[in-house]
Amino acid sequence: MSSRAYPSTRLRRNRASDFSRRLVRESQLSPENLIYPVFVLEGENQREAVPSMPGVERLSVDLLVEQAAELVELGIPAVALFPVVPAERKNLSGSGAWDSDGLAQRAVRALKKAQPELGVITDVALDPFTTHGQDGIIDHNGYVLNDVTVEALVNQALSHADAGADVVAPSDMMDGRVAAIRDALEGAGYVNTRILAYSAKYASSYYGPFRDAVGSAANLGKADKATYQMDPANSDEAIHEVAMDLAEGADMVMIKPGMPYLDIVHRVKTELQVPTFVYQVSGEYAMHMAAAQNGWLDGDAVMMESLMAMRRAGADGILTYFAVRAARLMRDRSRA
Ligand code: PBG
Repeated sequence: MSSRAYPSTRLRRNRASDFSRRLVRESQLSPENLIYPVFVLEGENQREAVPSMPGVERLSVDLLVEQAAELVELGIPAVALFPVVPAERKNLSGSGAWDSDGLAQRAVRALKKAQPELGVITDVALDPFTTHGQDGIIDHNGYVLNDVTVEALVNQALSHADAGADVVAPSDMMDGRVAAIRDALEGAGYVNTRILAYSAKYASSYYGPFRDAVGSAANLGKADKATYQMDPANSDEAIHEVAMDLAEGADMVMIKPGMPYLDIVHRVKTELQVPTFVYQVSGEYAMHMAAAQNGWLDGDAVMMESLMAMRRAGADGILTYFAVRAARLMRDRSRA
């Protein structure tokens, strides 16, 4: 007889079959958790690849409307719109941002008309509209001025709500902008226009491919956004930012980027228990795609793993350029 003790708890027992792995799975991922960010072009029947984001295309409004039908069919609840603004429509103050006939506003109207049940989220920030590529209005030193920028953002958010946007998403990181936007929306009767606040948005180098996609990279040049976006070293400050945005009237909050910041997602969800979103940003998408295209990683597998990890960390929803690919894969697997 052996004196060796057998382990009474074998965690491998539940892992032994697919059925028991499914029964004890703690997190679920479904298309309902995904938000699809899209780059919108002027013109008709326009489609352009984004070289640093293989598989992502900028689309003109008519083609976007066509794609919206598939998004609804796949069960993706919402899109987030990012206009690609022609250089001649940019200026120092970013005033194109609240043009009622601007590209974002036209895209909102077309989408809400064609697919009323698809949620439309708009980005509130001036960077696509400024000649310097900053998210706000700058002084002679290039410093982004807070309070005049907030006034501009209020105009922008109101023009999005006028066009029919369901959710406005300030991504600018000015202080006080959520309160100002909420107040203006209420005053205009838009009591149900939601605010998804980019609350903990870090001054990240993972946004590079996005800046290529919307054409703000060249305008920004060597400048950065460190005087308003958060320091990647900080975590308590993220809780402070989120709490402030909630007190100012945010309906949902976001952490951005995603994978390097899942500790922040987890803290926000456990400490504040509010609708928490995470943005798997352009640089994260680019890294996954580059490795997959080189045959270094299994693209579908790491895509699904990265999204599940965000759910496990506490994200209710994920903004991801993988939304359509992941939702198609989930549909095909459920049919198989
Ligand atoms: C603009 C904005 C950015 C992103 C979303 N809104 C870029 C930035 O702050 O420079 C980044 C998204 C991504 O990288 O996918 N305010």
